[in-house]
Amino acid sequence: MTAQPIAVVVLAAGQGTRMRSSTPKVLHRIAGHPLVVHVLGVVRELDPAHAVAVVRHERDRVAEVLAESMPELRIVDQDEIPGTGRAVELAVAALPADFDGDVVVLSADVPLLEAETIVELLRAHREHAAAVSLLTAKPADPSGYGRVVRGVDGSVDRIVEHRDADAGVLAIDEVNTGTYVFRAAVLREQLPRIDAANAQAERYLTDVVALARAAGGTVVASLSADAAALAGVNDRVQLAEAERLLNARIVRRHQLAGVTVRDPATTWIDTEVSIGEDTELLPGTQLRGATSIGAGAVIGPDTALVDCEVADGARVSRTDATLAVIGAGAVVGPFAYLRPGTILGADGKIGTFVETKNARIGDGSKAPHLSYLGDVEVGVGANIGAGTIVANYDGVHKHRTRVGSHVRTGSHNVFVAPVTIGDGAYTGAGTVVRRDVPPGALGILAANQRNLEGWVATHRPGTAAAEAAARATAADGAEGEATAADGV
Ligand code: UD1
Ligand code: MG
Repeated sequence: MTAQPIAVVVLAAGQGTRMRSSTPKVLHRIAGHPLVVHVLGVVRELDPAHAVAVVRHERDRVAEVLAESMPELRIVDQDEIPGTGRAVELAVAALPADFDGDVVVLSADVPLLEAETIVELLRAHREHAAAVSLLTAKPADPSGYGRVVRGVDGSVDRIVEHRDADAGVLAIDEVNTGTYVFRAAVLREQLPRIDAANAQAERYLTDVVALARAAGGTVVASLSADAAALAGVNDRVQLAEAERLLNARIVRRHQLAGVTVRDPATTWIDTEVSIGEDTELLPGTQLRGATSIGAGAVIGPDTALVDCEVADGARVSRTDATLAVIGAGAVVGPFAYLRPGTILGADGKIGTFVETKNARIGDGSKAPHLSYLGDVEVGVGANIGAGTIVANYDGVHKHRTRVGSHVRTGSHNVFVAPVTIGDGAYTGAGTVVRRDVPPGALGILAANQRNLEGWVATHRPGTAAAEAAARATAADGAEGEATAADGV
């Protein structure tokens, strides 16, 4: 992306105190990925000669995420000396001694930054042969940020952190976004000279600006019009705001690619999700992880799909599903719960109040109502009766149930696994199936029903039920007489 080789440094050593969390700030997630992983996406696009990340707080947890996301990233440990200046000093020390290109510094807590913005900054930096170039913005609320102090001629003098600022500086609305390009030589020369004489007793990277100026270098401050895209995440309010903005960006991308999104504000889509043309997302839809949706599907309302694969033309409403595969033209929900290993064939159905797990349900097969199907294989064209429970767990082990093709199972069955229902077999309503049913057989467990005539009148006298029964008996009698009188 850039002609001359660059190095990129990602600052990820801070604790993020303002998050008030046992999870390091840079591992808090938006749109399915930790903040720092979003920043690594930018690093990848910049394709630098050297990529370095600085870690310290919860270093093993952070380093693991970094290594997984970008194996070629060099991980540098910050020592006990705090501050962004110290972090960059150690990162630069990890670069080859003869590297004299430009060093891009990114903060792991600025997740919405886009690579083109850095490319622009690099271009301005080189055009002006600058020592330091920084990206600035004018957010609606500048509090917390370092303020950019410019001289009378408009050039940048220095950056003053919020906590070190007097009233005059606090009135400045232009802030440092924590995104910079430095000449490597400038960092090598100036970083050892910065002190920690400030409110936080930290060695601030931002002090390099004033030092570079004093040494006669040019400082470029590029004011971005899109402050929101450069916002830092320091607390949970800013975390939610960043996620909302990123989501709006993702939703818009899908809309422009032919997806109808009825309510962008309540539709949440992770970065890697793919969606086909003419698919419609209804309000309250969440598409998470590696979910892919085909074309012409309708998802929602109020549906959460995590790492699911939904084929063309499927309809999924009010459903919670994880690691499930839904075939073309299939119907799921409303109120279905699909757990990992659910595979529903084309034109199949998993209906209302049905829970599935490790369930492979063939093309055109249906489980429309009130059922639990766990560790099951169902052939094609079968119908599972309402209120079917697969007893897959004997208290110690899980067992599989096999239901053949074109089977019709009765309502309110229990399949006590392991058990097999052959192709084309039927089972009767209310059957507890403990033994295999051969192909074409009717499996039935039916004790004769007994009716104890007049039981309510003798055992529950004076109740509404007894009175209703008495009225019905009288009416039946009168009807019987009338019919008899007709002499038919
Ligand atoms: C920093 C800037 C501030 C800017 C703001 C933009 C400094 C001194 N201040 O402030 O001017 O307006 O970002 O978002 O740089 N980190 C380390 N090592 C450390 C301390 C921090 O690696 O010793 C990392 C953090 O993990 C984080 C980044 O550096 O990713 C910024 O640190 P943070 O504490 O958030 O700085 P801000 O107060 O936001
Ligand atoms: Mg910050």
